[in-house]
Formats: sequence, structure tokens, C-alpha cells
Amino acid sequence: MEENGFNVTPWDVTGKVDYDKLVEKFGTQKISEEIIDEMNSISKGNLHVMLRRRVFFSHRDLDLVLKDYREGKGFYLYTGRAPSLGMHIGHLIPFLFTKWLQDVFDVNVYIEVTDDEKFLRNQDYTLDQTQEWSYENILDIIAVGFNPEKTFIFKDTEYIRNMYPLAISVAKKLNFSEVKATFGFDNSTNIGILFYPAIQIVPTMFERRRCLIPAAIDQDPYWRLQRDIAESLGYFKAAEIHSKFLPPLTSSEGKMSSSIPESAIYLSDDPDTVERKIMKYAFSGGQATAELQRKLGADLTVDIPYQWLYYIFEEDDAKIERIGEDYSRGRMLTGEIKKMLAEKINRFLEEHRRKREKAGEYYRKYLYDGDLARKMWEKIHY
Ligand code: TYM
Repeated sequence: MEENGFNVTPWDVTGKVDYDKLVEKFGTQKISEEIIDEMNSISKGNLHVMLRRRVFFSHRDLDLVLKDYREGKGFYLYTGRAPSLGMHIGHLIPFLFTKWLQDVFDVNVYIEVTDDEKFLRNQDYTLDQTQEWSYENILDIIAVGFNPEKTFIFKDTEYIRNMYPLAISVAKKLNFSEVKATFGFDNSTNIGILFYPAIQIVPTMFERRRCLIPAAIDQDPYWRLQRDIAESLGYFKAAEIHSKFLPPLTSSEGKMSSSIPESAIYLSDDPDTVERKIMKYAFSGGQATAELQRKLGADLTVDIPYQWLYYIFEEDDAKIERIGEDYSRGRMLTGEIKKMLAEKINRFLEEHRRKREKAGEYYRKYLYDGDLARKMWEKIHY
């Protein structure tokens, strides 16, 4: 159901998202200047580019998280991934940002790999497939460089024994009509996926401290349910920091999604593929001919190469401003900005793959042997 010409659910994003309207609809808050100033001061002036540019733009209770931090009560971070055949650069956004938060605040990070969710959501997927994808995706997540002693990565099908008592306590508080209305389930929905929201909520109760969740705003429906019931179970309401969606290559509507391959740049795409995809598919706000572009300039609000540079790939504020000026005034051509983006992405991916090659060595540490991982395997959550 599309209201206002767009729709956002945990599984689908369609239309041109109006983020101001979404904040109103979901009942979240925009990140204030006050919060930005405080995070800037805690990070000693090294505010993450995605916060400076408001890619992370909305929150719930982030002010309370910062208060808990100031008062020495601490907090922890939680994020996750439903494994699929290949991760694309949009999927990396919350992980890159979570790693920055961990560096700044020196806190525990929990990363849930929802092999169960993936298996249950699609009749065609086998458990063997979701296991293989989990392993491959975890290597990409490890490559982001979290603190191995303070990070626990877990697969639901493996860690379920430790989570199950709390999962059933959560499940007992959620009734069918609420869950059905929140996620749009119907009578054909399998009963596994009906129960699944309890599993995604459990990690918000891993510690008796506030949990801050960095994720795109599509995951918000889970946290709304969590916030209705957390206190009745003796836990904090989850706090969140929400990002916008990295748009697909092909349009400024919707989100980059694995289901449309030409819309995404995968972390495994080689330099030629990246360049070819960008040159061929990247939706341009530039004019049809070089002559017209010089005369009229580009429309930055729909131009994907500009938007991707703005979201993550050009971190230098002065440079991105200059690019925006030149391109919108016709002093830069579409081919030039596309080439610039392809080079930036290839440099980023080369570095990512270099780290990923070593990730296997750390796999056991993040899942089983690191300080936090060992403690977590000894704990049964109630
Ligand atoms: P999944 O695997 O669909 O997505 C993983 C994370 O990536 C974010 N994301 C995006 N961010 C920016 N631009 C995009 N185009 C884009 N596409 C996806 C998602 O918001 C998510 O943060 N159910 C979850 C897995 C999960 C989880 C969590 C996610 C379990 N526990 C806690 C966040 C926090 C899922 O299907 O994510």
C-alpha cells in the first residue's frame, strides 16, 4: 500500500522516499543539532561523514543513550544481517557506521546473522544455502574491522539455545493481531516467520543497559514492537539511529536491493564490472548531450553518481561541495562524475577485499573465542 507515493517495510522499499514524512509516520525524531554537537565533541571533532551529511538522520532515545554514556552507565550496540548470496554496498552502511560508534564509545557490539529469517522468508531457499551465505557474509562483516574482543557475531540457528527462554517470554507478549498489522502478514504467512520478530527482538535485551541499534529505517517496525513490551520484561526500550537508503544504481527511487542485480554494486564486483555497471546503468541527472549539460547543468536530486559520492564515497566536505557546484552548473559532464565514482568505489572495494582475505583467520574469535563471544556462550538469556 503506497501512501504519499512511497512505501517502506522491512522487506521492500518502493517510490521516492520522503524522509520527513517517514519520520512523522513512524513517530521517530530527526537528529538535532544538539545531538550532533555532542557526538562531535565526544568524537573529538571526527564526526562520521554519514552523520555530517545526515545519511543517519533519525533516532529514538539517542539523547538518553548519550546521557547514560555521560553518567557512566554505558550502553551497547546491536545490528544484523539476513544472509544472502552477496552483500552489496548498501548493506555495508550500518556496519561501517557501527564500527565508528564502537571506536568512539568503546562499547560491545552484537551482530545477529538471521539465517532463520532468510530461510523462512523464501520457500525456495534451503538451510544449506543460508549456512553458506552466512559464512560468506560474516567474512564481509569481519572485514569492517570491529574490536574482536568486544564483538559477538552469532547465527540464530546456532545461538538459539541460549536465546530461546527469552524469545518465548518476548513471544508471549506479542499477539497475532499486532504482529500481523505491523508486518502485513496474512493467512498464508508461515508460522515460523510469525514467531521470527521475537528472535530479532531478543538481542535488544542482551544486557541490562540501553541498546542502540544502527540500521536503515526499514527495520523500525521491529523496534516499535520491542518498545511496547521491553519495560514489562524488565529491560530498556531499544534506542535507534536510522539511516536513509542508499538508492539503487538505476533510479533515485526505492533502495539498492539484491533482487535486481543491475541496481546494485556487490562487494565482490571486479573493477571492470563496477565501471561497466556505473557507465551503463547509473541514473543521471545530467542532460542528454554535452552541449546541453554545459548550458543547463545537472539535477543533483535525482543524480545517482552524485548521491553515492555524497552518501559515502567522497568524504571531503569541500570537495563534494565543489563537485555539486560544478556539476549542477554544467562545468562537469556526466561521464566525468561517473568515472570519478567508479574510481572511488574500486579503491574502496580493493581495500575491502584485502581485509576480507584475512577475515577467515578471525572467524572463530568473533563467533566463539573472543572475550565477549566466550561470555555470551556461557549465558542463557531469560
Ligand atoms: P538486511 O540483511 O536486509 O540488511 C542489513 C542491513 O542493511 C540495511 N540496508 C541498507 N542500508 C542502506 N541502504 C540500503 N540500500 C540498504 N539495504 C539494507 C538494513 O537496514 C540492515 O540494517 N532483519 C534484518 C537483519 C537483522 C537486523 C537486526 C538488522 C537482524 N537483527 C538488527 C538491523 C539491526 C535484515 O533483513 O537486514
